[in-house]
Amino acid sequence: MYSKTVIEHFQNPHNYGKIENPDGTGKVGNPRCGDIMYLYIKVKEDKITDIKFETLGCAAAIATSSVVTDLAKGRNIFDALKINSENVIEKLEGLPVIKVHCSLLAADALAEAVYDYLKKSNKAVPEELEERHRQINKES
Ligand code: FES
Repeated sequence: MYSKTVIEHFQNPHNYGKIENPDGTGKVGNPRCGDIMYLYIKVKEDKITDIKFETLGCAAAIATSSVVTDLAKGRNIFDALKINSENVIEKLEGLPVIKVHCSLLAADALAEAVYDYLKKSNKAVPEELEERHRQINKES
């Protein structure tokens, strides 16, 4: 079933909680399983200085969010957008196939938070991120 690392992150998630007055917020949901995730970022000079998440979802959704926040903290926002499902699954030492969509949810929540930050601060949104934002909102 789940790897030891998934269980560890689920039982003791890193960066869990809410940031008051975040610079960007991402909210994504999966209509099929009903899981919802919020991800908050604080940004300074385009660098993610703080990141937290709240997930109402399965163990894999919580573990993947924990890993995504670990991977993104301290990174440049555009660099953080490169975090994908494969990176997350590798960090977690595998995920059952039926749980792979949970890892997408966390990476998408981060992309949405970066999108929100760029919009709020009147910065240019790369076309690729604009398209990803459209896709995410079409699906949820
Ligand atoms: Fe849907 Fe995990 S079962 S996010």
